Amino acid sequence: MHRSERIWLIFGVVTLVVFLGILAVAAIHDDIVPPSHMQTIDPTRVAQTPPFDKPGVRKVGPNQYEAYIVAHIFSFNPSTITVPVGADVTFYVTSPDVVHGFFITNTTVNMMVIPGWVSDESHVFRAPGTYLLLCNEYCGSGHHFMYGTIEVK
Ligand code: CUA
Repeated sequence: MHRSERIWLIFGVVTLVVFLGILAVAAIHDDIVPPSHMQTIDPTRVAQTPPFDKPGVRKVGPNQYEAYIVAHIFSFNPSTITVPVGADVTFYVTSPDVVHGFFITNTTVNMMVIPGWVSDESHVFRAPGTYLLLCNEYCGSGHHFMYGTIEVK
């Protein structure tokens, strides 16, 4: 083997070991978990677990809202929510079946929805309009039909 070939081979193996080491430290020492603020749920009992037994939007303060949404194959429940302009909405999303995505177009809300976890993210809707909600994680044969809408008026 040529000398420079051997050097590059060693360089490749060393970087691989370093990156895997960083990943292991992040997962074990720094306790890196799904982006869900550590809130867990029994995925087999989502329909019986409050507040996901009654999904929907709740007003929790002046212009403050909480939206509890269940992402399942192949729709969001509820599929349409309506909030006023300027509403500060915190979305709490979980899945009873497989991994889904929760992406609201023209916003920074983009979460992975993992069975057993409650993902949450907040957004202030400053502009009126209809925002498309999409599942952007491939979840099966009906993945491309999985969408919802957020009406801001
Ligand atoms: Cu749900 Cu793709």
